[in-house]
Parts: sequence; structure tokens; C-alpha cells
Amino acid sequence: MCGIVGYIGSKEKTINVLLKGLERLEYRGYDSAGIAYLDQNQIQLIKKSGKLNCLEKSVDRNLLTEMGIGHTRWATHGEANEINAHPHRHGKIVAVHNGIIENMNALKKELEEKGISFVSDTDTEVFVALLNDAFEKYQDMKKAIEYTMSKVEGSYAIVCFNEDDKEHLYVMKKDSPLLIGVGMGEMFVASDYQAFREFTKKYVLLDDFEYGIIGKNAWHIYKDGKEVEKKLEVLDEQDILSNKEGYDCYMHKEIYDIPEVLTNLLTFYETKEIHSIPDYCKYNKIQIVACGSAYHAGCVGKNLFAHFAHFPVEIEYASEYRYQPILADEHTLVIFVSQSGETADTIHCAKKIKEMHIDSLAIVNVYNSTLSRLTDYVYYMRAGEERAVATTKGYSSQIALFIVILREWMKAKNTWTVSLEEQYQEGKRKMLQVIQPCFKNFEHFSWISNIISKPMNFFIGRQSDYALSLEASLKLKEVSYLNSSAYAAGELKHGTISLVEKGTPVFAIATDKNTYEKTKSNLMEVKARGAYVILTTLDTVDQEIDVDEKIIVPDVGALFQPIITIIPFQLLSYQVAKSLDLDIDHPRNLAKSVTVE
Ligand code: AGP
Repeated sequence: MCGIVGYIGSKEKTINVLLKGLERLEYRGYDSAGIAYLDQNQIQLIKKSGKLNCLEKSVDRNLLTEMGIGHTRWATHGEANEINAHPHRHGKIVAVHNGIIENMNALKKELEEKGISFVSDTDTEVFVALLNDAFEKYQDMKKAIEYTMSKVEGSYAIVCFNEDDKEHLYVMKKDSPLLIGVGMGEMFVASDYQAFREFTKKYVLLDDFEYGIIGKNAWHIYKDGKEVEKKLEVLDEQDILSNKEGYDCYMHKEIYDIPEVLTNLLTFYETKEIHSIPDYCKYNKIQIVACGSAYHAGCVGKNLFAHFAHFPVEIEYASEYRYQPILADEHTLVIFVSQSGETADTIHCAKKIKEMHIDSLAIVNVYNSTLSRLTDYVYYMRAGEERAVATTKGYSSQIALFIVILREWMKAKNTWTVSLEEQYQEGKRKMLQVIQPCFKNFEHFSWISNIISKPMNFFIGRQSDYALSLEASLKLKEVSYLNSSAYAAGELKHGTISLVEKGTPVFAIATDKNTYEKTKSNLMEVKARGAYVILTTLDTVDQEIDVDEKIIVPDVGALFQPIITIIPFQLLSYQVAKSLDLDIDHPRNLAKSVTVE
């Protein structure tokens, strides 16, 4: 959440770098945006509520300044208005922040008792006021930073500068990502390397409790008062920068990326020799920990392990796992799933598991992300940059990786039979063959007006179809704002069916041949109560059934079926949002990388 960017270097470039960086970071939040820079030795601030384009209209791109900071916000404290927008200034210091200061009330009270007053509702302003107060006392930025970091609790990635020092940017980090991009005679700071990758491929990753002083030719990073040596990282070239390529939005484009992503991913993991694989034989338990769509991908993974490996897998929301007793030991493998690799809830769990010396594996997209550095094994999703807040290709590649891991796991345990390998090869071949035509078939649903304006949509399914229902329902909610819920098909009759009335849309997903007849009975129950039933099933099953609409998906076999079955729902959500004229890539209240708890 919140994207932060900083630049020191060429006076012709500063404004351009800040705005470009913010554009690349807009996925992290888009309630408001702002920049600060030095003009004639004075801090200048421009802040606007609303999306980044509101700020862009107010900034003169020809402005000459050698140093600046910028921010795109996802509000945590205080309304998304101009006053609460970052940067925040107190005295000589101006800063942008990503994170949450948990003891802001106590700190604010202390500062107010000293006569300091506040204009915004933000925790960031308290941070800046504290830093400025410390600077006034010590007259030394490093000491002021050390004092401030010792006082604040919570999470922060901070970039700031001092009006009297046009030679340096200052940075601090705890629990929120922060990187320094290293150029020739220029330096960049950002929450994500996407912000500066156009300008430099070299970067340094800050670790928790580190802080630094950045000049245009050198950087110095410290921890506990001592300078620390940092490794210079080089951007992975396979992590390609994305653009819309003629599509009307990133979500639509990223759905169409899926075939290529899957082809590359499966080929890569089938052929790569150096890829480090855990000793799967050592485990008697798997726990999957994730949030949102990544959790839903984990639900599909759990199902795959149950049905093919007959192996029990536990799955937990990261936000819950963190606060419960960890029932894991040296025979447990904890699998963390995250597109961004920066989700705060997931990161906290990974830290806890690391401290307990329990083996962990990450399914993650962003190279060198915090999660990838915390776990023992990393399976990169290799999906390329995903910019739409609603994940599509990310989710599909997570499922593909569960298939990869299942295959490796069963091979290690000598339970992957010749017949399973045939199923895998045949399923993969069919899946890659039918996926393109699927896009065409599901690009236009003529009946979407029947679901828009209804107070509620239900998604039902059993087993992996239930896992898919969870994701289909979330996708519809997040981009179209239509109310919807997913249920295990057999559960509806235990209470929720009371909400079904004439015209209530019920999406029944029934691609699991073992439970098809049972789900069919459940959908007849809702049909009998007037529901508008949309059945999704396979082209190979008997479709003689009285429902309102059908979505027929090609049968590619149980292993790869979830990858095909979710496609119509990803496209449906996109179509509904488009017909409602919504900002599909930036749904209200959301951010792509949820770096607060
Ligand atoms: C997906 O469409 C959502 N935007 C959201 O649920 C997301 O999957 C979740 O926040 C987890 O993110 P991560 O994969 O980056 O950890």
C-alpha cells in the first residue's frame, strides 16, 4: 500500500522521474498523490486528492530541481483528502511514508504537550514532527533518525529530506519494502524497482531497522549506529515491464497473457535442472498460508493434494495464522503464496516460521521480494509484471505451480505413476490448446444485465469447484462492486437459501465429475425457488438440464481443469465492470500490494 519514490541527481530529470515512478507505483494506492522538491532552497509541496492524473495536471514538468520525493496513497489514517495526502512537512523536514505508526496517539500527545500542533489526521505527520523535533535537538539528521526509529512502533518505509541540506535524501525501513536504485551521478528510492527500472537496473534492498543517507554519487546504510555493507542487486531481465498493448485495461490484457505465461512456466519447471527442490520425503504435513486470491489458489492446491496425492493439506488466511498457535514442526512444509511477495499478513507469518526454523516455500511472482528472501525455497510464478489490482494471470500461474509441486512431490515419494504422467501431459496439451478459443467464446455474455442490479449473486460448487467459486465471487466483487458470496454447494440449504428469491443469480460451477450430480440437485433446489441459474460445466457431461444459462468449458482433465474453468469468470467480471463504466484496473478502496495488516 502507498507507493513512495525519491530522486536525487539531474535537475532536468527530477520531476519526470518522480511522476513516472508514481505512475508505476499507482497499483499500491490511488486515493491521493503528492510530491515535494526544493526550489531556491525552499521546500515546495504539491498534493492532490484523487488519482495520480489529478496531481499530474498540477505539476510543471519543466521544473528544475535536483531532489524530490513523491507518494501515491492508500489511506490508513484519515480521509483521502489533500490535507492528509503525502508528503507531510514539519519544520525543515518533509517526508513520504508507507506503513502504519502504531503508537501514533501516544507520540502525538507527547508532541502536543511540547506545543507542536498538527494539521492532518495522519500517523505520518506524527512521524515527521517527531523527526523534526529530534533534529532541532541534535542538529544532526543521523542522530535524529536514530532517535525517531527508537521511539516509533509499527511499520514504515520513509524517504525524507531537510530543507537545509540539498545534498541528501534520508531513508528508514521497517516491515515495508524500500529499495535504492543506483545510477551514475543519480540515485533513486522506491517501494518497488518498477518505479526506477527504466533508469537503472542496479539496486540495493534495505532490511528492517536499516536507515540511510543518499547522495547523488554515494549511499551509506546504517543499522544500530554502524554502517552496514549492502549487496548490489541487478534486475532480472526476464521480469518484463508491462504495458497495455492495445487492450483497454491491464486486467483484460493480463487475462490474454495467461496462455503464454503458462506455457513458459510449465516448460521452465519441467526442464530447469538447477531449481532447488525441498526434500519432499521429509514432510508429513503441508500448511498453505496466503491472502485473498492467493488463498483461493491455495484452496485449489489443497484439493489437488487431497485427490491426487491423498495427502492432507491445511490452509489458513495469513491474517489468522499469525495469531494462532503454530502447529508445525520439522516435518512440516509451510507454503506461502503471494503475487507481490510484500503482503504484510503473509510476511509476518513467514518471519514467524523462519524464527521457528520450520521449512518454508514461497510461490511468488516478484523477484527478490521480501517473501522470496524469507523462505527456504522459492518457486517464481514467472507471470511478468501484473498491474491490474485484480489478479488474473497471477492466480492462474499459482495454480499451475501447485500442479508442478504436486508432480515433484509425488515423484519424490514414488507415487507418480506412468498413468499420472500421461494424464499430466495430455491435460497440459489440451489446456494449452483450448485456452485461446475459450477467450473468444467467453468474451461476450449476452445476459449480464440479468445480474447487474440484483442485490446479491451466489456462487456454488463442490471441491475444486468450490475453490473456484470463491475466486469467481471475489473477482466479481472487487472490480464490479456487485454483492456476491460463494458457498460449498451442499451448504446453501443450511441457511443461506433463505436469501434466494425470484431472479437471484446463482452461478453453479460443476466441472468435478465426481460431484456433478450432487451439485445438479443443489441447483435444482435454488431453481425451484426462482433463482436465475447459470451453470458452468464440461463439454463432456450430459447437459440436459433446465437452467437459465450455461457456460460450457472444455474438459481438460481434473489436473488442469481449474485453470480453464476460471477464465469465463475472469472475463465476466471484466465485462460487468466495463458495462458499468468502472475503473477496472483501480477498483475503489483497493491496492495491489497490501503492506499493512
Ligand atoms: C486479488 O484480485 C486481490 N487483489 C487480492 O485478494 C490479493 O490476491 C491479495 O491481496 C493477496 O496479494 P498477494 O498475492 O500479493 O499476496
